[in-house]
Amino acid sequence: MAITGGVATLLLLALVHFSHSFPSFSLEEEFEFKSWMYQHDRVYDLDEYYHRLRIFTENKKRIDFHNEGNHKFTMGLNQFSDMTFAEFRKSFLLTEPQNCSATKGNHISSKGQYPDAMDWREKGNYVTPVKNQGHCGSCWTFSTTGCLESVTAIATGKLMLLSEQQLVDCAQAFNNHGCFGGLPSQAFEYIKYNNGLATEEGYPYTARDGTCKFHPDLAAAFVKDVVNITMFDEMGMLDAVANRNPVSFAYQVTPDFMHYKDGVYSSKMCHNTTDTVNHAVLAVGYGEENGTPYWIVKNSWGTMWGKEGYFLIERGKNMCGLAACASYPIPLV
Ligand SMILES: *[C@@H]1O[C@H](CO)[C@@H](O)[C@H](O)[C@H]1NC(C)=O
Ligand SMILES: *[C@@H]1O[C@H](CO)[C@@H](O)[C@H](O)[C@H]1NC(C)=O
Ligand SMILES: *[C@@H]1O[C@H](CO)[C@@H](O)[C@H](O)[C@H]1NC(C)=O
Repeated sequence: MAITGGVATLLLLALVHFSHSFPSFSLEEEFEFKSWMYQHDRVYDLDEYYHRLRIFTENKKRIDFHNEGNHKFTMGLNQFSDMTFAEFRKSFLLTEPQNCSATKGNHISSKGQYPDAMDWREKGNYVTPVKNQGHCGSCWTFSTTGCLESVTAIATGKLMLLSEQQLVDCAQAFNNHGCFGGLPSQAFEYIKYNNGLATEEGYPYTARDGTCKFHPDLAAAFVKDVVNITMFDEMGMLDAVANRNPVSFAYQVTPDFMHYKDGVYSSKMCHNTTDTVNHAVLAVGYGEENGTPYWIVKNSWGTMWGKEGYFLIERGKNMCGLAACASYPIPLV
């Protein structure tokens, strides 16, 4: 009897020890993580595996909890699901604050009636496919090329892919900082005074800071003027998207955005001021769903993220500061 009790105690101690050195996850959790790893081509060593599994499981719980609640948008697993928000912010977002504000913009509104919905992807061949910035805080360059690609196509009928890397490597004199951030309005200024931007093929993307390799022969798209929309004038943004072209804007990404999947994003976590914006994107249209007006936005996190690379965000409330610093270029064609 005494011996059996002793063995049982030893076994129990061994089990307690075992579960401390190897974190315990359910088979289902490990299965889910392994399928995700397979889908996203991830390989880790053993320590990293358990570290990432823990973060993944926490993210998954947050996603499931959100999706059980009553929200206008759903969340889902994506390529960021093994990262904490702190890691995500460091690799993919702009450092704050950016010099984002145009107290007096130069967009002239038509003050007309606007169609209920607009989508430049359906108006013609005006929007290039969603791109992927990789591990570099270069969202501002993708917002910039996306906008210049579209305004040039609207003016000429010719849609071409333009170079983000040139902006990463060369636009420093206009307060841009390569993989460490910048703003579309400042990048448009650079393109205007630099006399042009190369094509994607002419100056390919590396997702790393490099030395400037631009020379005038590479220039393929040009900016005649930069139009800034007055700070917090979301109606000005609507006027521009309805009547002219897609518009570059910046806003604040908070942890609830990282796993956006579908529906109209809206948040109580984010701020609406100019000093907290940390991501730049491109509004390519707008509409309304179940009484909630939204913007249709092209992101630069690949097509596996969100709605095939796009997201919808609530319109009309300066949600997350999205009207803090919007701009677009007038192309020189
Ligand atoms: C903001 O503008 C000031 C003055 O031009 C400049 O020194 C500073 O580096 C800018 N900040 C960023 C984040 O670009
Ligand atoms: C638009 O914004 C850019 C970058 O902040 C600035 O350099 C430029 O002067 C502004 N343009 C106008 C017309 O206000
Ligand atoms: C920002 O949000 C606050 C609180 O909801 C609101 O009172 C304020 O008007 C908003 N400011 C802007 C510029 O949108």
